[in-house]
Order: sequence, then C-alpha cells, then structure tokens
Amino acid sequence: MEEIILSEEEIARIVDELGARLTKDLANEERPPVFICVMKGAMPFFSDLIKKVKLDIVCDYVQLTSYGGGLASSGTISMDKDIATCLDDRTVVIVEDIVDSGLSIDFLTKHIKSRFKPKKVLVCALFDKFCARKNEVTVDYFGARLPEAKFLVGYGLDYRQLLRNVPYVFVPDKEEIAAWDELDP
Ligand code: IMP
Ligand code: MG
Repeated sequence: MEEIILSEEEIARIVDELGARLTKDLANEERPPVFICVMKGAMPFFSDLIKKVKLDIVCDYVQLTSYGGGLASSGTISMDKDIATCLDDRTVVIVEDIVDSGLSIDFLTKHIKSRFKPKKVLVCALFDKFCARKNEVTVDYFGARLPEAKFLVGYGLDYRQLLRNVPYVFVPDKEEIAAWDELDP
C-alpha cells in the first residue's frame, strides 16, 4: 500500500462528528428525514452513520453505477435500483462514499427533484475529492477533503468490486492492483 488515508479510529471519530452534527441540524424536522444510501460504495459508511443519528429517521437506498469498476470513472451513470420512499415534503440526506467528478450526485439530485417535491436535499459524503469536480455540486457534510485526485480503496470503496470490506481507507500500489487483477473478480 502506498499510504493510509483514514484509519479505523479516524473513521470512527469522523462518523461520530457527522452523526452529532446531523442530529443537531435535523432535530426540528416535522417529518422524519429520509437517509438514502448510495450503493454499493456508501454501505459501510451509511450503516455506521445512521447509528450515530439520534433521531427518528427513515432509511432507503439507490444503486448507481458510474465507475467502470477500475481506476477511472466511465462518465455515464446508470440507476440500477430506484428510491422506494415518497420524498414529497421530506428532508433527504444522500449518503455517499466519495464525491469525485460530482456527476453521480448531480444525476441523483436531479432525479429526486424531478420525481418528488422534497423539502430539502442534503449530501453527506465520507470524502470530498473536490479537485476532480466537473460540475457544481454542494457537499453539505463531508468527512475528509482530498486535495489530490488519488485512487482510494477500502471501507466501501472498491477496485473491481474488491476491498469494500476492508475497515480502513488506503491508496493501493501497482503491485497490489496487479495482484487483484490476477483474481479476475
Ligand atoms: P463521481 O460521479 O465521479 O462523483 O463518482 C462517484 C462514485 O465513483 C463514488 O460513489 C465511488 O463509488 C466512485 N469513486 C470515485 N472515486 C473513487 C476512488 O478513489 N476509489 C473508488 N471508487 C471511487
Ligand atoms: Mg459510489
């Protein structure tokens, strides 16, 4: 590995802080806010985060595919699973692993606003890779900002569907990537 970006302890601290902020900021909602997990990358982050939100909330998920599965984004987004909850008049919190080009969040936000009339749509991402942004999206809550467009794996972030189960986030080296390619996942 080239470098650890977030250790398990750092992730736990970030999740605690974000959970506390969301609990405070969403305390006076009339109806339970809807937290939406963007599968599959946000799965571990979402599951840890919702346990730190001490409010009545509703959970749902969508599945988007943007990366071709390797090191670079394909640039086209497909929705493999849509939202099942009616989001009219609700505050929505989209939970993402990482906002990179911003295309996925832009796509999902527009999709939600065209299908429903939500009160407010907020974005909470573990990572904000702001240097890679291709359009204007607001990340309302982020765990860490990445000043360089490094390729990360672990804690939901995958390389060819592998590494999502690793409990910390790191930058892989060339030898590791070659070994994962050998597995032909
Ligand atoms: P965007 O549409 O370019 O913002 O990409 C967002 C999606 O691409 C994220 O939800 C991730 O699933 C994936 N992604 C972006 N950067 C990385 C990375 O460094 N490692 C693994 N997946 C990534
Ligand atoms: Mg993702």
